[in-house]
Amino acid sequence: MAVREQLWPVTLRDMRRDDLPAVLDIERRSFSQPWSRAFFEKELATPFARLIVAVEAGWAGPTVVGYTCRWRVTDEVHVLNVAVHPDRRGRGFGRLLLEGTLGEARSSRARIVYLEVRAGNVVARRLYRSVGFRELGVRRGYYGPGQDAIVMELRLGHW
Ligand SMILES: CC(C)(COP(=O)(O)OP(=O)(O)OC[C@H]1O[C@@H](n2cnc3c(N)ncnc32)[C@H](O)[C@@H]1OP(=O)(O)O)[C@@H](O)C(=O)NCCC(=O)NCCS
Repeated sequence: MAVREQLWPVTLRDMRRDDLPAVLDIERRSFSQPWSRAFFEKELATPFARLIVAVEAGWAGPTVVGYTCRWRVTDEVHVLNVAVHPDRRGRGFGRLLLEGTLGEARSSRARIVYLEVRAGNVVARRLYRSVGFRELGVRRGYYGPGQDAIVMELRLGHW
């Protein structure tokens, strides 16, 4: 018998220090060079940084299923990090986190959004393109020998 998975509501809110165990678990499952706890704590204390978590309701209570980190520098937004728990991917949470970031960038009249993505990360590149980012160029060896970064930008309406 096929069992349909329960769909629980997902909300976005600012990351707190007590989210860090769940965030670090996702970070370590998602990246070969994960950010450390100290790095997240530094970002949480940085005035121009904003960290958002996606929280899914569930039988066992709310669970952090993804997060994003961005910087606001003058009229630019830099997306530093986006990740979704491997068990919760493909359900629109990455898009939700990114669209939350873009919505806030637009409403606070940012002019442009930048990010870097590993050249081999086809899933993330497809996600970014699907919300309007375009590829600006390549930073050779940005993530280490032979590991290039693609720089992407999204121009918002305020030029
Ligand atoms: C990139 C990442 C955040 C996407 O999160 P997600 O919740 O799985 O993504 P979504 O379900 O919102 O999908 C959004 C889009 O991503 C792309 N995508 C998602 N899964 C995909 C897959 N398996 N293959 C190809 N494209 C895929 C599609 O364009 C999709 O849009 P569509 O559903 O309309 O086709 C997630 O894969 C992740 O955490 N990866 C590891 C960390 C990482 O690489 N982060 C980016 C660093 S720059």
